[in-house]
Amino acid sequence: MLLKLLTILLVLYPSYLNAFATKPEAAKSLLKWKTSLINQNNPLLASWSLDPSINRTTSSAPCTWYGVHCNDHRDVVKLNLSNSRLNGTLQYFTFSSFASLTHLDLRQNDVSGPIPVEIMYLSKLLFLDLSGNHFSRTIPQEIGMLTNLETLSLHGNNLEGHIPISIGNMSKLGHLRVDDNKLSGSIPRELENLANLVKVNMSFNFLTGHIPSGLGHLTKLSELYLFLNNLTGSIPPTLGNSSSLRSLYLHMNKLSGRIPNELGNMNNLILLHFGHNQLTGSIPASLGNLTNLKMLDVHENFLSGIVPQELGKLESLTELSFSHNKLSGQIPVSIGNLSRLELLYLNDNQFNGSIPKELGNLHSLVELILLINQLRGPIPDSLGNLKRLEQFTVHSNKLSGYFPETIGKCKKLRYLILSDNLLTGRVPKSVCNLRSLKILHLGNNRLSGVIPQCLSNFSHEIQVLDLRMNRLHGNIPTTFVKQNNKLKSLNLNGNRLQGSIPRTLVSCRDLEVLNLGNNMLTGGFPHWIDTLPEMQVLVLRGNKLNGTLLKMNTKTPFQKLRILDLSSNEFSGLLPSNYFKNFKAMMAVDKDVSKDLYMGDNYMYDDTVVLVLKGLSLELQRILVIHTTIDLSVNKFEDEIPDTIGQLRSLRYLNLSHNSLSGRISTHLGNLKVLHHLDLSSNKLVGGIPQQLTSLTFLADVNFSQNQLKGAIPQGGQFNTFGNSSFQGNSGLCGFPLTKKCGDDGVSLSPTPDDEDKDEDSTFFDGFSWKSVVMGYGFGMLIGSGIGWLMFHLGKPRWVIRITEQSRQKRK
Ligand SMILES: *[C@@H]1O[C@H](CO)[C@@H](O)[C@H](O)[C@H]1NC(C)=O
Ligand SMILES: *[C@@H]1O[C@H](CO)[C@@H](O)[C@H](O)[C@H]1NC(C)=O
Ligand SMILES: *[C@@H]1O[C@H](CO)[C@@H](O)[C@H](O)[C@H]1NC(C)=O
Ligand SMILES: *[C@@H]1O[C@H](CO)[C@@H](O)[C@H](O)[C@H]1NC(C)=O
Ligand SMILES: *[C@@H]1O[C@H](CO)[C@@H](O)[C@H](O)[C@H]1NC(C)=O
Ligand SMILES: *[C@@H]1O[C@H](CO)[C@@H](O)[C@H](O)[C@H]1NC(C)=O
Ligand SMILES: *[C@@H]1O[C@H](CO)[C@@H](O)[C@H](O)[C@H]1NC(C)=O
Ligand SMILES: *[C@@H]1O[C@H](CO)[C@@H](O)[C@H](O)[C@H]1NC(C)=O
Ligand SMILES: *[C@@H]1O[C@H](CO)[C@@H](O)[C@H](O)[C@H]1NC(C)=O
Ligand SMILES: *[C@@H]1O[C@H](CO)[C@@H](O)[C@H](O)[C@H]1NC(C)=O
Ligand SMILES: *[C@@H]1O[C@H](CO)[C@@H](O)[C@H](O)[C@H]1NC(C)=O
Ligand SMILES: *[C@@H]1O[C@H](CO)[C@@H](O)[C@H](O)[C@H]1NC(C)=O
Repeated sequence: MLLKLLTILLVLYPSYLNAFATKPEAAKSLLKWKTSLINQNNPLLASWSLDPSINRTTSSAPCTWYGVHCNDHRDVVKLNLSNSRLNGTLQYFTFSSFASLTHLDLRQNDVSGPIPVEIMYLSKLLFLDLSGNHFSRTIPQEIGMLTNLETLSLHGNNLEGHIPISIGNMSKLGHLRVDDNKLSGSIPRELENLANLVKVNMSFNFLTGHIPSGLGHLTKLSELYLFLNNLTGSIPPTLGNSSSLRSLYLHMNKLSGRIPNELGNMNNLILLHFGHNQLTGSIPASLGNLTNLKMLDVHENFLSGIVPQELGKLESLTELSFSHNKLSGQIPVSIGNLSRLELLYLNDNQFNGSIPKELGNLHSLVELILLINQLRGPIPDSLGNLKRLEQFTVHSNKLSGYFPETIGKCKKLRYLILSDNLLTGRVPKSVCNLRSLKILHLGNNRLSGVIPQCLSNFSHEIQVLDLRMNRLHGNIPTTFVKQNNKLKSLNLNGNRLQGSIPRTLVSCRDLEVLNLGNNMLTGGFPHWIDTLPEMQVLVLRGNKLNGTLLKMNTKTPFQKLRILDLSSNEFSGLLPSNYFKNFKAMMAVDKDVSKDLYMGDNYMYDDTVVLVLKGLSLELQRILVIHTTIDLSVNKFEDEIPDTIGQLRSLRYLNLSHNSLSGRISTHLGNLKVLHHLDLSSNKLVGGIPQQLTSLTFLADVNFSQNQLKGAIPQGGQFNTFGNSSFQGNSGLCGFPLTKKCGDDGVSLSPTPDDEDKDEDSTFFDGFSWKSVVMGYGFGMLIGSGIGWLMFHLGKPRWVIRITEQSRQKRK
């Protein structure tokens, strides 16, 4: 009995030995690879050891090791080392030791170097995931020998070169991801052979060429992502054959031609994104047959013509974007049938006609964006039914009629932007029911009546209140809340407002922009606002404000101020030397200055949106910083220009003209190294023009005319470029560019102004060019923020850039 047992054991022993003898090959291979890793002490790999002092169960190695899975024969069939902080290459990985491997999962590690050709030895492989590493070089042609592969995931690496055509030999392939690499060349036509393909993601590469039309024959294909490449040619009509397709993302390529009618046959399509291409022609009515469609996005193309009524059949649609095209005609009434629609973007087209009242049926609508079109007629009352609406943006159209009272029923509205239209009548009080409102922009309309007092009541939510360029009269509302006031920007420029500037504004601790210019305001300078710590733009020009600026409420007033415009009022007394001493933002050099306004503007929206704004913020900053400005012109200021002004080293524009300033021109002006424009004309200044000003290398324009200056005009530097109109009206001045030579008393000054000097800079002296910049600033800020959501969804905001470019053109 005992003997028998012993015999059995003896018989079995060799096979056991044998088994033990072959397996260590895999174990040794893994160990060899482990020692090649940069972080071989990785604690996750601690079990990878044949040292019995580390693990007594070495006999079962490597099957018991971390990430290693064996079959009953103790062949390694699966290596799952995903997310294991591996750092190294596959150069010392002996693929030939793993002939039984079916799954290799190395996703999310730090593996770099090429994918070795030897990977072809893994002939049983079903699943290969190398994504989220740093693999580089080309995908080896030999990968095509893995003919059993069902899943190939190489995304999120640095792979380059072409996608190997041998991929067409992986006839079992169902899932293919090579997105987010640096692949170039075209999409291999051989993909057409892969009848089992379910999901293909090749987006975010540098692929060129056409979309292979054979993809349409892949009957199992359900998801096709080719976005963010450089694909050209047209969308193959054969795609209409792929009846399984649910997601089709072709956006951000250079696809041209028409949207094929055949696409209306993709019965199962749920998501269609063709945005940001060069598609032309009209939107095919057949798309109305895609009754499962949830997203239809064709923004930023060259689509034209009329939107087909048939789209009203897309009853599953939640997101519809046609923005930035050339679509025209009426917004289809049938869109009102899309009861699940949440986002409707029709902006930047040529839609005319009126806003269909049927849009009021869209009970799910969250964002309605119709800006920059040719829409006419009134805003329909029915929009008051949109109880979930958070954004309603229709600026830059031709809408007329009243601002509908019913809008006050859209209680969730956060952004209400109706600016640049022809709206008339009053601002309805109902607007104050909009307790979530963050931005209210009604500027550039024909609104009249008084500003509802209640608007200042809800400044604990509202951040931007912009009613500029209307016909509003009466007083500025006074009931700004004391607690939690969030108002950042108040712009009432260009109305007919009367009375004084309310003291309660001091409750708006976050205020950055206060623009009350061009009204009929009276009273003194609102010195109490000098304590508002965030104030950056203060524009009070064109009112009837009077008194002095000498009173200071804090030792550190206006630390962040960059634009001070008090022009065309009746201010008197000395120039505010104490303020000049404290304009810290105007003293800083540009780089520091540019930071706070837009970098830190996450007050505007959610962080996601701020990310989107990044690209844009640069533009806005540039406008703002370049125009660091003091304009105190056309007042009754008297006495000398204080030397403290010389500390404002980032000042670009200084206009003190049309006052009663006397004394000599401060030599400290020579410290304003970035000064572009200097206007001291029409004062009572005496003495000479300081030689120091010739060191101001950016000075594009000066005006010293109509003073009592005398002596030689400094020569050199920018002074060689100024015309004589800059100096006329000073009987004592002599030298170039005046005809009067110095030391030659007998010759009288030529009174004819130099008409050649009519470049755009001269508009500065009308207060035009930089005034428009102040406006541009407010507007830019509004767009930058109000449209944040829009950009978030639509990508690069072409129209915003257009606007900022416009203001730049105006400037120069
Ligand atoms: C030793 O191997 C066993 C069996 O797989 C494993 O559970 C254990 O964690 C290993 N011990 C060490 C110290 O690695
Ligand atoms: C590998 O492990 C991760 C984490 O447990 C898991 O999500 C993944 O599906 C595994 N991979 C394979 C191929 O089994
Ligand atoms: C991987 O190793 C390289 C080279 O030493 C090193 O630069 C890199 O930071 C390492 N990565 C990680 C995540 O440790
Ligand atoms: C695909 O497989 C066939 C036959 O197995 C072979 O002849 C051909 O060379 C392979 N093609 C590629 C591109 O690897
Ligand atoms: C497709 O690839 C893109 C880019 O890498 C990625 O952002 C996206 O999540 C992928 N989608 C799917 C479904 O694989
Ligand atoms: C697309 O091609 C253009 C040149 O035609 C090139 O400038 C651009 O970088 C390419 N973009 C991508 C994503 O490959
Ligand atoms: C695929 O579409 C093309 C063009 O629409 C059509 O001619 C062809 O018959 C279709 N093929 C199949 C297999 O449905
Ligand atoms: C929509 O599909 C129906 C059949 O399902 C077809 O008769 C009709 O022509 C299609 N409509 C369009 C506009 O293609
Ligand atoms: C609106 O657009 C359509 C189509 O482009 C055009 O025929 C029509 O004249 C336009 N209507 C107005 C009022 O501009
Ligand atoms: C869609 O809207 C049109 C016009 O408003 C209407 O005549 C039609 O009955 C609606 N269709 C459905 C299915 O609701
Ligand atoms: C606005 O606030 C004032 C005082 O804070 C209050 O008397 C007035 O009733 C409020 N008006 C509205 C419409 O809430
Ligand atoms: C300011 O103007 C008002 C009239 O609007 C006048 O009564 C007042 O005296 C003026 N104040 C000063 C300091 O000039």
